[in-house]
Amino acid sequence: MQHFTSITDVPNPNALIQRALEIKRAPNPQSAIRIQKSLVLLFFNPSLRTRLSTEKAAQNLGMNIITMNADAGWKIEFEDGTVMDGDKAEHVREAAGVISQYADVIGIRSFPTLKDRDWDYAEVVLNQFKKYASVPIISLESATLHPLQSLADAVTIEEFKPRPRPKVVLTWAPHVRALPQAVPNSFVEWIKTRDVELVVTHPLGAELVPQFVDNLRVEYDQRQAFEGADFIYAKNWSSFSDYGQIISPKENWMVTPEKMALTNAARFMHCLPVRRNVVVADAVLDDPRCLIFEQAKNREYAAQAVLEWICE
Ligand code: CP
Repeated sequence: MQHFTSITDVPNPNALIQRALEIKRAPNPQSAIRIQKSLVLLFFNPSLRTRLSTEKAAQNLGMNIITMNADAGWKIEFEDGTVMDGDKAEHVREAAGVISQYADVIGIRSFPTLKDRDWDYAEVVLNQFKKYASVPIISLESATLHPLQSLADAVTIEEFKPRPRPKVVLTWAPHVRALPQAVPNSFVEWIKTRDVELVVTHPLGAELVPQFVDNLRVEYDQRQAFEGADFIYAKNWSSFSDYGQIISPKENWMVTPEKMALTNAARFMHCLPVRRNVVVADAVLDDPRCLIFEQAKNREYAAQAVLEWICE
C-alpha cells in the first residue's frame, strides 16, 4: 500500500512536480481524472492552507471529502499495551480501523510535542495510523515533516526559477513561539533532490537534524548566504539540540529589504502563516517579487497530483 508521508515514499518526485505543473496549466481538461473515492481528513491541530487546498484538490477530482477537527475533545491513545484507565477513550487501533471503513484515503495532520524529541521523531501519531489503518495515509504535516508543503515549494521554485540552476537559500528567522522543524526538514529533503545550489543559513544553536543537512552548505552569516540568491525561503524553527526551545540570537535575523538587496533580485518564499515584522518586514512581503500566494495556490496542484498518484 502506497503512503505519502515523506519524499522517501515517492519513487519519482520529479514526476509528481511535473504532474502538479501540468494540472496547473490545464486544470479542467476533458480528460480530467475523476476518482470515485472518499477522503477523510483528520486535523489534530488547526490549518488554513493545508485543509482548504487538500479539500479543493479532492473536489477537483470528484472525491467525497469528510473533514474532522480532532484537536478538541477526542483523546486517542497511541501507545500499544497500555491500561486505558485515564482520559483517553479510544485506542488508535479502533479509531484507524473504523475510519478505514469510511475512507479510501486518510489525511492526518499532527503536531510535535516539542518536549519529547524521541516521541516526535518516532512520528508516533502518523506511524500508528499507518500501522492500524487499512487504507493509504497522506501526511498533512506530521511532527517532523511537511511533504505537501515542500512539494508545492518545489513546484513553485521550478515555475519561477530565473536560470537552470538557481541558488536557493533557506534562512532561519525569528519568532515569538517555539515552532516545529517539520517545514525546514522537509524543504531540505525535497529541494536537495533538485538541480539547485541549496544553502541553509541559521544562527548557532539552530542546527537541523544531521540526516537532513548532510553534504549541504550551512552558513552562519545570513548576509553572506543571501549573496546572489534567486530564492529566499524564510522559516522559524525551534532548537533540535536543546529540543523545542526558542532560539534568540543577538543579531536580528528578520528578513528585510536591505538583506534582500544582497540577492540576485530573489523571490521571497514562506509557507505561511507568517508574523509580519518579526519573521519578515512588511516591505518584503508586500513586494511583487514575493511568492507567498503562488506557493499557497500550488498547494492545491500538489495535493491533486498526490491524490491522483495515491489513488492510481
Ligand atoms: N503552510 C501550512 O501548512 O499552513 P496551514 O498550517 O494553514 O495548513
